[in-house]
Amino acid sequence: MKNVDSERSISVLNKEERSYPPLAAFAKTALISGKAARAKLDASAAKFPERFWDAAARELFWFKPWRKTLQWKVPDAKWFVAAATNLSHNCLDRHLDGPRRNKAALIWESEPGEVRTCTYLQLHREVCLFANALKGLGVAKGDRVAIYMPLVPEALVAMLACARIGAVHGVVFAGFSAEALHDRLNDAGAKVVVTADGGWRKGAILRLKDAVDDALKRGAPSVRAVVVLKHANIEITINDGLDYWWHRLMAKASPVCPAEKLDSEHPLFILYTSGSTGKPKGILHTTGGYMVQTAWTMKHVFDLKETDIFWCTADIGWVTGHSYLAYGPLLNGATAMMYEGAPLTPQPDRFWSIIARHRVSVFYTAPTAIRTFMRLGDEHPKKHDLSSLRLLGTVGEPINPQAWRWYRKLIGGDRCPIVDTWWQTETGAIMISPLPGATAAKPGSATLPLPGIDADVVDMTGKPVPLGCGGYLVIRKPWPGMLRTIWGDAERYRAQYWSQIPGMYFTGDGARKDKDGYLWILGRIDDVLNVSGHRLSTSEIESALVGHPFVAESAVVGRPDELHGQAVVAFVTLKGGRVASPELKEVLREFVAQAIGSIARPSEIRFTDSLPKTRSGKIMRRLLREIATGGAVRGDVTTLEDFGIVAKLQQDEE
Ligand code: WT7
Repeated sequence: MKNVDSERSISVLNKEERSYPPLAAFAKTALISGKAARAKLDASAAKFPERFWDAAARELFWFKPWRKTLQWKVPDAKWFVAAATNLSHNCLDRHLDGPRRNKAALIWESEPGEVRTCTYLQLHREVCLFANALKGLGVAKGDRVAIYMPLVPEALVAMLACARIGAVHGVVFAGFSAEALHDRLNDAGAKVVVTADGGWRKGAILRLKDAVDDALKRGAPSVRAVVVLKHANIEITINDGLDYWWHRLMAKASPVCPAEKLDSEHPLFILYTSGSTGKPKGILHTTGGYMVQTAWTMKHVFDLKETDIFWCTADIGWVTGHSYLAYGPLLNGATAMMYEGAPLTPQPDRFWSIIARHRVSVFYTAPTAIRTFMRLGDEHPKKHDLSSLRLLGTVGEPINPQAWRWYRKLIGGDRCPIVDTWWQTETGAIMISPLPGATAAKPGSATLPLPGIDADVVDMTGKPVPLGCGGYLVIRKPWPGMLRTIWGDAERYRAQYWSQIPGMYFTGDGARKDKDGYLWILGRIDDVLNVSGHRLSTSEIESALVGHPFVAESAVVGRPDELHGQAVVAFVTLKGGRVASPELKEVLREFVAQAIGSIARPSEIRFTDSLPKTRSGKIMRRLLREIATGGAVRGDVTTLEDFGIVAKLQQDEE
């Protein structure tokens, strides 16, 4: 494992180990206050994890209690066995009898500046109406519903409506292409697609309904209906017998829809994420366990107060949007801020203006965004009154200490703790994080596993590595929010997550632990890239590239990038007779964007006569990474098939 350090893909090299103790003024009112309080909680949860999760579950509403907290046989977990509950009921109905009834559940702002506020009572009504609309389209318990929408309140309504009737939602990020949507619709066997005519992005309109039409034209036999929200007011095609306007369905639907009593292990959602092969994995989460961990982490990591306005900037197309924009805040009766649009539109101060105008108190975003803002200059946040903020969070990738300090000073006014939260699509909820009133922060470290989470850094045999050494980040015991399987591929689930290191969950991340037990994430150690906090698979981009008629072979690697964490670099060999040119580079970059989505568009395409391979025919990625990074090729190259190629690839750099 000594390679983890030298091969790590992101430059968190600036290892500042200075520690920032919890801020006294913050700790005073914090739910969990002081180092000792956390240590006590950690210790008792480590001793009796099931008791810990049991207590967390009792904060929520269950139609029927569980017989057993956990049933576990690697790799199959059942949490809150035989209990019945409903996530939508816990997010909505549970708040209607008390003072939260007329509290804002959601404050939404669109890119052009429209603002809508939706109370718990109003949201409940919308969800019931839409749940009945779905039923009217033939959606039954267990059916899959794809949601391909802009970041609008109706996207949340659609998710909650599915959860209410036991349909399984599969949100597909609106930035994904028609082709990517097509693959996901078919893999999940979606019965209904919920979309909008279009959505706002950087002053332009993303034509979502067109993309759905395109995806369906490629063949999607399971899809029976498409629901279209009129949002961007653009001309679209309506196909009779297939397409239904959202507002028409809502006008006809009944507002009475009691929440279905669902088994704790009833499937809640599928969310696709990239793995180390070309085919995205449909990560399946179920109801009870996901609900419990999402609710607990939301409340304690963000030290939630009744008056908070919580803003998670993630899109619901990612797991962060599922757990901390949609479910986490609503489960806790909080007010969530939702912004449909780009961070720098129309001006680079858009985020700070939103915080100032809506008095956002907890702000959760990605390091990439922070680095972007840092680069744009201090004058933008300085123009706004950010005094409403009391807590800041980051997620998605390691944060470099320099950006951490900027965030703390410029955005948090040195008054707000920062929680650096590590987790994954697969974990469902936050796993490693400071508790803001109780954990000293070290910039660049996600600090400690949360209570009830047994994370460690081990070698390939599962043995903990010595402190300070790089190793594999694993989770030893099951946790409530964990994925239950990969949709339709139980074998891949076992092989990918539970077989690489015997008996433990393998995260795919490298990490090291310091003398205080703090975890430092070193980045992915599989063929997965992290670009701006989004996960991309190298082989998925490679298969997109070889889909182009001119391309013979390709190898994709990540190059460290100051702003985005990593940048996509594609090495491409062309078919006989095809000539490399700057125009072809552009064509191929666009081709990838069309195949997957613009987040996957390579920063750089490099043409080469052949790719460096080992004798057994494996592409030597380490070598390509080094070439892409501009460094000299180090280490052993004696297994190279064609030595000449190295010199050639380096030459082509200029
Ligand atoms: C991967 C998961 C759920 C978060 C959104 C991304 C990286 C995530 C951190 C962090 C360092 C982080 C890891 C992880 N990651 N959070 N705080 N520090 N790295 O979810 O797409 O499933 O990606 O993001 O590499 O494995 P995802």
